[in-house]
Amino acid sequence: MCGIIGINSNKPVSSTIINSLKKLEYRGYDSAGIATLYDGLIDEVKSEGRVNNLEKNSLVQSMKGTIGIGHVRWATHGLPNSINAHPHSSQYVSVVHNGIIENSTLLKKFLISKGHNFKSQTDTEVIVHLITENLKTENIVNSIKKTLKSLQGSFALGIVFKDQPDLIVGARRGSPLAVGYGPNENYLGSDSYALKSMTNKITYLNDGEFCIIKKDHVEFFDEDGVKVNKKVLELSSEEKSYDKGDYKHFMAKEIEEQPTTLKNGIKEYIDNSNNDINIYNFPWKTNEINAITLIGCGTAYHSCLMAKYWFEELTSLDVSIDIASEFRYRKNRFKKNSLYVFVSQSGETADTYAALDLCNQNNMKTCSIVNVIESSIARDSKFVLPIHCGTEIGVASTKAFLGQMLILYIFALKIGLLRKDIIKEKFTEKIKDLKTLPKLVEQTLLTDNKIQTISTTFNEAKGSMFLGRGFSYPIALEGALKLKELSYIHAEGYPAGEMKHGPLALIEEGMPVVILAPRDSYYKKTISNMQEVIARGAKVLLITNKSKDEVISENIWEKVEVESTNDDLLPFLLTIPLQKLAYYSALKKGYDIDKPRNLAKSVTVE
Ligand code: AGP
Repeated sequence: MCGIIGINSNKPVSSTIINSLKKLEYRGYDSAGIATLYDGLIDEVKSEGRVNNLEKNSLVQSMKGTIGIGHVRWATHGLPNSINAHPHSSQYVSVVHNGIIENSTLLKKFLISKGHNFKSQTDTEVIVHLITENLKTENIVNSIKKTLKSLQGSFALGIVFKDQPDLIVGARRGSPLAVGYGPNENYLGSDSYALKSMTNKITYLNDGEFCIIKKDHVEFFDEDGVKVNKKVLELSSEEKSYDKGDYKHFMAKEIEEQPTTLKNGIKEYIDNSNNDINIYNFPWKTNEINAITLIGCGTAYHSCLMAKYWFEELTSLDVSIDIASEFRYRKNRFKKNSLYVFVSQSGETADTYAALDLCNQNNMKTCSIVNVIESSIARDSKFVLPIHCGTEIGVASTKAFLGQMLILYIFALKIGLLRKDIIKEKFTEKIKDLKTLPKLVEQTLLTDNKIQTISTTFNEAKGSMFLGRGFSYPIALEGALKLKELSYIHAEGYPAGEMKHGPLALIEEGMPVVILAPRDSYYKKTISNMQEVIARGAKVLLITNKSKDEVISENIWEKVEVESTNDDLLPFLLTIPLQKLAYYSALKKGYDIDKPRNLAKSVTVE
């Protein structure tokens, strides 16, 4: 989704801004732009498509400004073309914006009545004209304060002013924004990943705050324009150089990294010598909690659904799950003894953040399971369980999904033990099995060749279905989502037992259907459902686990076998061939695997 970079330096900034914008590319975008200030003039260049197009523009190469802002845009209001790309500028001010201004139509009417002319179809342009209007009567701080108070909706902003050669303004409400500190220069960024290549010293703005960035210092203000003191955080530099290595795509690398990332997660939480789980400083007693609500979006929601099965199996808690965009607008019955868990790779997903914020406002117990530990969701949760799977760049979440499931499983086991819902022997047995998971994932990754061949059939079909029961149902949903987002093939995930209540009508001769039927307690039932789709002409790809007992069915099109382990852990293994199926299918179609069309890695608008 949109990304912001700002640099105030003594040296020309255009090439550093371009390089930083490249770091933001993974978020998903459709146009890019830059504005620098030189000799009392704002130079602005924008282009449709990739940052490369912008970089090639000779005007960008000749930019001499030592202060500037850059942006990658994911279109919300107006087509993804160079006119609507950011920055948007008047004669006096230039603005980049992440988020949505909900009252832009009304503000535009007012500004037109004051004589302002609009060039784009964007909501952002109203901010430019509002600041310009307010500057007629106010100084910088007051004009910003007044402008921000007029805006409804969400925003992170970077602003430069024609007659202010040593000043960038940053402001945030709802969308993340950070300030970075360098030697004789300072930075603004919507994402610590982009700032990390320049500095590891960072300050995050809180909602409602704005800042003035000069070369040698930064001042912060609350929404009333009162100065506030902020902490400078030192980020770990370990992930500074995360790249594709020899892989064609980040996604391919991230799939193959899963044995290592699971090992890291296990190392962080499992006490090897005692076969116990370490969760330090959990702020509540487990007997203060009798219910748990798990909330996320997309893949993170699928890991919540998975966790519902584990929590119900391993604890006596009441378990509910929710899609964040639904939860945030419903009339929720907040319960004192409930724990609200927010699952997110990026920790910046706008809907998940809003759901967390709502729970915090209602004084609920909030906990997050996130990958990016500097993120807004992590910072504003009362307790955080990091995923520890490292930077994930591919828009399609892979290693973070397995990481989220790992932590949720560990959390369920520990709560089950503390509440005495499971006995110590059973707990120890499960920990021992868990420690073998990275190796099993490594072996399951070897199913590569077969999946490559199979993917052709999916590419030729009009649509496909992914079916599973029990622990395999969330994985069916995740498999269908992966195929949709990468190969743009219609794919539906369904509980296998629901087929005859409607979706069976979709099955026709030759339709590829993935059946997830590991040998768990649902196996026989799922195999019966498989026969029902085969009888109606489906081409069934059966994904099961290795066993000495053959599957009794003559008409299976293809079979892929994952390794065997206890029922709780099979979902991790079933996920692997589905990730690969989506990857190879998109690869054969020649699609942009790491940046699928219309999608963004960090969904910072609702
Ligand atoms: C996953 O492949 C998706 N790209 C998407 O569903 C993602 O999981 C969702 O947007 C939530 O993101 P988060 O984990 O960063 O909150």
